[in-house]
Formats: sequence, structure tokens, C-alpha cells
Amino acid sequence: MDKIANGVWRLRGGEPERHTPVSLRETEIRYEELDRLDCPGVSPVPESEISIHHTARGVKIELPLRAEEQIYGFGLQLHRVNHTGRKKVMRVNSDPVTDTGDSHAPVPFYVSTGGYGVYIDTSRYAAFYCGTNLRKGASEHKSAEQKEVATSEIELYGYQAAEGDRTMVIDVPAAQGIDIYLFEGPDLKTAVQRYNLFSGGGCLPPVWGLGVWYRAYSAAKREDVMRLAGQFREDRMPVDVFGFEPGWQTKAYSCSFVWDEGRFSGHEDMLKQLYGMNFRINLWEHLFVHPTSPMYPELLPHSGNYEVWEGLVPDLSVKEAKDVFAGHHLKEFVEKGISGFKLDECDSSDFVHSNWSFPDTTEFPSGMDGEQMHNQLGTLYQAAVQAPFETAGRRTWSQVRASGALASPYPFVLYSDLYDHEVFIRGVVNAGFSGLLWTPEVRQAESAEDLIRRIQTTIFSPLALLNCWRILNPPWMQVDREKNVKGEFLDNYEEVRDICRKLFETRMSLIPYLYASFASYYFDGIPPFRALVMDYPDDPGTYGIEDAYMMGDRMLVAPLITGRTMRSVYLPRGCWRDFWTGELYEGGRTYTVEPELDRIPVYVKENSLLPLAKPMEFVADNAVFEITVKAYGNEPQDFELFEDDGTSFAYRDGGFNRVRLSWQPNGDAAGSSSRSGAYEGTQYRIIGWEHIV
Ligand code: GAL
Repeated sequence: MDKIANGVWRLRGGEPERHTPVSLRETEIRYEELDRLDCPGVSPVPESEISIHHTARGVKIELPLRAEEQIYGFGLQLHRVNHTGRKKVMRVNSDPVTDTGDSHAPVPFYVSTGGYGVYIDTSRYAAFYCGTNLRKGASEHKSAEQKEVATSEIELYGYQAAEGDRTMVIDVPAAQGIDIYLFEGPDLKTAVQRYNLFSGGGCLPPVWGLGVWYRAYSAAKREDVMRLAGQFREDRMPVDVFGFEPGWQTKAYSCSFVWDEGRFSGHEDMLKQLYGMNFRINLWEHLFVHPTSPMYPELLPHSGNYEVWEGLVPDLSVKEAKDVFAGHHLKEFVEKGISGFKLDECDSSDFVHSNWSFPDTTEFPSGMDGEQMHNQLGTLYQAAVQAPFETAGRRTWSQVRASGALASPYPFVLYSDLYDHEVFIRGVVNAGFSGLLWTPEVRQAESAEDLIRRIQTTIFSPLALLNCWRILNPPWMQVDREKNVKGEFLDNYEEVRDICRKLFETRMSLIPYLYASFASYYFDGIPPFRALVMDYPDDPGTYGIEDAYMMGDRMLVAPLITGRTMRSVYLPRGCWRDFWTGELYEGGRTYTVEPELDRIPVYVKENSLLPLAKPMEFVADNAVFEITVKAYGNEPQDFELFEDDGTSFAYRDGGFNRVRLSWQPNGDAAGSSSRSGAYEGTQYRIIGWEHIV
């Protein structure tokens, strides 16, 4: 077993494959930050308890699993949070409709309540059997003692294995060798931190990325876009990012990566106007390259041997291909002010549309096959699109529909075409175990209530997104898709719009708090959105929670789903406050809550300082947030705001401040703030303190 970094161990069996997430990585291990984490310094699983065998199938791995251990992770799992006793296959897929492990972003990494993490370095469709079976003889043949044959379905199918230690069995097809990485705890959250720091640390969004996003109708023309943009500003609806869907290009399936001057005549002039109105622009695309694209001739020799939608599949692991792709994005878009991209269709769609991607047998110039490329495509694509922003010295906050291992440094948020609200909430809970971010986006809705409930979830997520690619007018004017496109509006749309505006304003007020939470992701690898079990691994009450999550260190979010007027909320130990009313709740208990339509259940830990900004309509460059600090309880802990220019990479070289907020409980009960660091500008002005007792 080799020690790779503080608290990170590697065990090698056989000869690993040439192409794995580690061999393809472009990011650096964050050794210094790993050194700062305390650890016992011994592998969390002894080498003698791990077995690695080669078989004709590939590599078979066995690791111990103690009876009491609960297993989490495996990337963006949308159908289950606790994977103990389940089988999961790490196969990228755009239609993960059931609990097989298939995912937009499968990650062969799991963490245990035993306080450690395990990462298997492979791009193969590896299967994890998380204690599904006992070894021969281990059951002690308990069921043989049963006197009568079972007849009811409950008896027939209700087999429960004897309690006791089990085994994690991992099947890695095709490979002849493997690297296993073990991450020390001592607890589950620290194991996740180590995995994220090993991956290169978390990403830091530009501060505007934390505002509200609106993606416009796919068939919109220049005049539609300008009408919408004008309406947002006139109605004072906070919107920071304006997204263009497929129609901006001359060809979209596959992509030309060229503006369509038919729908968007004088597009550069249009962009100038939008920038002048303080919108950031995000462009939809995918990476299958149309024959009319200017990149086509140069990418031809560096692509796989099958087409998708008549387009090339560039091998972005090859430098030449990446340079062409990144170069075009730099010159044509990033240098012209575009702030980000939505990287669609990179997640293989073989369940529903068999020809929307390439076969697993595809051969790529790098030597990768289609199976490996499928699981790597999302991260390779993110790296290629991040590159021009690095060159330009500007941060992006972008979207992607596929991701995988070691992806936490990439400033991309996952999304999906699945549209079940419950599934979307589970995505927020789950993504944080594996260095991923996920947005529960809003499109149209089945009712005004549905729209509001969905917006509430998205504003308490990494990316507050309305993806209105199928409707011409904003959803608060008409939720029904057909009527919306025809311009038939709801009678009470102004009322609905006003509730939406208030929610957007809530999002805007949370930006400084969220930005600080992302700074902890960047510097310490702590996921800004995460399951409750991560903060309370000793509390079995949190083990199965799939519908509530932590947002930063101080807030617990428990969204409500359409059609329900009440829900139960488990609040872990300690005391909590209702975010809206300040009402005090004692933790360690489950409550039934019944919020009004305009309220999503959110709780703040007692003894917190919560910085809330005066909502702006957009975050302009060098914007200064005016902050009122809410002080909950009699002994609020200090809170540190993260302050920098909000857009450049200067923070990597120390160009930032920490603004420490403190409360003196025994003095005149007043708050104070102090600033330290090398950044010379000001991002925050503290304008007031509010004591909630
Ligand atoms: C889907 C994507 C949608 C929208 C659409 C446009 O694949 O998930 O959000 O962008 O493509 O064709």
C-alpha cells in the first residue's frame, strides 16, 4: 500500500489500464490542504482485508463491510441515497429511470459511516455489490430451520440475510489491473473532503453565477430574446444569466458552433445590448461536430470511428483535438464576452434513443474504446471548455449533462431531462458525496403551485435555473406549455410573478452565504450542498433522509412537493430556527410542518450568524453587497465571508479577504466585522445586525 498524500492510500493490483480518470486528469492533488487535515495515518482498511483477482471478466475486488456500515456515493444517484445492500453499475446514461446505478454522472467512489472512502480508478462500467450476498456457508442456513414452506408473497420474497459482516464485491470488466484509493476519515465528511482535495479541490463560481438563470425558448429570435430581457428588467425580476438554447446555431444536432444570422441578425450587436443590461450569456451546445462546422476538417483525424447525428465525436483526450475545440471557443465566444456554456447530450442515451451516441466498441485515436469514452466524456468535455476561460483569466459557471470521477474542480453543474420533483431533490442530497453539483431546474409546470414549489427548490440549490427552452413566455405568465407558446396568459399571472420575484430575491440575498460555502469547497473540499448524514454520521435518524439537505454549514433545506400541504422534517441534535419566522425547534426530533405556498421549509442552526444581502436585480462586476447579519441565539459562532473580485482567478494566488463576523454575547450584544487578506477592493458592506432570540 502506497501513501499518496496525507490520509490517501493506494493499493495496486496487476497492471492498470492506460486510460483511467487518474491517468487522464489535468488537475493537481491539493497536497497542502490535505496536510492540514488531521488523520491517524494508517490505511482505513488493512491491506490484508482487501483482495484483488484477475479473471477472464476483468478484475474482481473484495473489501470488508462491517454489519453497521452504511454506504453512500457512486456519483449522481437519482433513485436512492443509502446504497447499503444494493448493486450499482457505474454506467453513464441520460435516462436513469430506475435504481440500477446508471447515471448522468456515475463515480466509482463510495463513503461509509465507518469513516472512510474508497475510489476505484476505472472508466469501465464497474459494478459494486454493496453487501448484497453472504459468502458460502455464512448464512448458517437459517431458513432451513423454518418449519413450513412460505406461501404468501411477503414470506416468499421477504428474505433477510443474517445480520453480520458482509463483503463489498466490485466487478471491473476488461481491466487486467487496478488502482484502489483509500481515503481516511475519521468521519464520512472528512473522507469526502479528502476525495475532493485529491481531485483538485472544489470549484469556485464567479459570484454572478449564484444569481438567477433563465434559459429562453429554443426557437426564439433576436426580437423574442430582447423582449424577454427588457421585460425582466422592467418587472424587476432578478436574472443574472440569460441562456440561449439550440436555435442560436446554424446547425444544432450535430452542432456547427456558428451563430445563425437568420434568427439572430447582427448577433454581436444584440450581445452588446444584453451585456449593457447586465446579463451574462450562456450558450447551449453538445460536442458532436457538424460537417459544416469550421472545426470539422481539423477534428476529422482526431475523432472516433463512428458518427453521431452525422457529426464527429472528437477525442478530447488528444491534445490536438482539445486545442482545436478550446481555441474555437476562445476566439469565437469567450473573447466576445460569452460567460459559459451548457454542455448537452454527452451522457449517452442508449436506453431511449439508441443512436444518440456512439457504440461501446468505438475506437478513438487515443486508444480508448467507446465504453471508456462514455464514462470519461463529461469530464474531458468540461476540461476542454474550461480551458479558454483559464486563458482569458475569467471564471465561468456552466452546465453539463455528464460528469464522473475527480470532477470537483470543474465549475459545471449537472442537470437532467427527468422532471420528477422528488428525484430532483434527491439529486441535491446525493451529488455532494462524490464531488458533483446538481441543479433541480424548473421548466414549465403543471400548475402555479407546482411552479412555485419547484422554484423554491431551485433557489436553494447550486444553480437557480429556469430552463424555459420549451416555452416562449416566462412560466409565471402561463404554466401550460401550449397556451404559453400561443400567448394565452393566466388570469392571476401578476400574483404568481410577484411570488416568484420574492423567491428570486431570497436567492439574491443568500449569495454572500453561498459564496462563503463555495469557498469552503474550494479550500477545504467541503461540499456546499450535502446529505444530513455527512454532518451527523453518528445519528441513525439521518441515514435514510432523501428529501432534505444541508446548504452550507448553517442551513437545512426541506423542500415541499406539489400537491402536499405538509411534510415531516427531521431536525438533527441541537436547536434550530425557522428561517422565515425565527421560531425555535429542538433537534433530535421529527416535526410535521405546514408552510404557506410562498414558504419552503428552511431551518438555521441555533447560534449562527447568517449574512443576508439586500437583493440586487443582478450582480454587476465589482458589485457591493449590503449585508444585514442575523444573529440567532445567545452565543452565535463567528462566520467568515469570502471576499474577492468575484470573477478572476486571483483568489488562487491569495487575492482575497476573509471578513469575520463576530457577536459579543456578554457585551452590549452587538456584532462586529473585521477584514484580513490581500484583496484591496470591497465586496461587502455590513449595514445592520438583527438579534433573534
Ligand atoms: C435537451 C436538454 C434540454 C434542452 C434540449 C434542447 O437534451 O436536456 O434542457 O436543452 O436538449 O434540444
